[in-house]
Amino acid sequence: MSRTKIFCDIADSKTIKEFNKKSIVDGFTTNPSLMRKAGAKSYEKYSKLLLKICRKKPISLEVFADNFSEMEKQALKINSWGKNIYVKIPVINSKGKFTGKLIKKLNKKKIKLNITAVYTVAQVKKINRCLDNKTKSIISIFSGRMADVGKDPVPIIRKAVQLTRSKNNVEILWASTREPYNYTQSKQLGCQIITMPPKIIEKVSKFGKSFNELTKDTVKAFLTDSKKSKFKI
Ligand code: E4P
Repeated sequence: MSRTKIFCDIADSKTIKEFNKKSIVDGFTTNPSLMRKAGAKSYEKYSKLLLKICRKKPISLEVFADNFSEMEKQALKINSWGKNIYVKIPVINSKGKFTGKLIKKLNKKKIKLNITAVYTVAQVKKINRCLDNKTKSIISIFSGRMADVGKDPVPIIRKAVQLTRSKNNVEILWASTREPYNYTQSKQLGCQIITMPPKIIEKVSKFGKSFNELTKDTVKAFLTDSKKSKFKI
């Protein structure tokens, strides 16, 4: 089984510059909310700035239109900006309509896609039917957002990995990571990619503390705080 690649989930240009240099980081994912958070005013100009920084590693840039013809136009434009781009297409539009036809059309044109906002096995099945077995494609399953509402992402990811196993070009991405342990889980499930915010990548890169070290660190931290507060009984 191949290693689970680590992508950085961020649109801030300074952070992309810093994390692009790290060998632990294999690529980047962005979304319209992250672009907004990064202060992007012109989507095109800002994306091109990011593409100047990240020239080789894969980077996902998402369409933001809500109707399929606009989505298609945006997808073609975004794709023309560079070779390392995965065009992110949401699995449905805001009205709940499956983007399958568009996925199929773009996939036929050999455009690398990252199908995003995926939550169910049924969606994975439908997406998989729209993808050929040559063009590189990613299916992003939003594990953290599921867990945020009390749902377990593990069985869904496990099934998704299984469903796409016969297509070497299709990768399952653990998206919306909430904690460092999600990296361990994604590896155990055979996920090809996990995308994580920069802070979690930093924690994952320091994995390996022993239980003995952890227990000492914990006790020491409590002692330090007790001393700082001059606690007395
Ligand atoms: C994935 O590509 C998304 O950008 C991302 O993982 C969403 O994460 P969030 O749920 O923390 O916003």
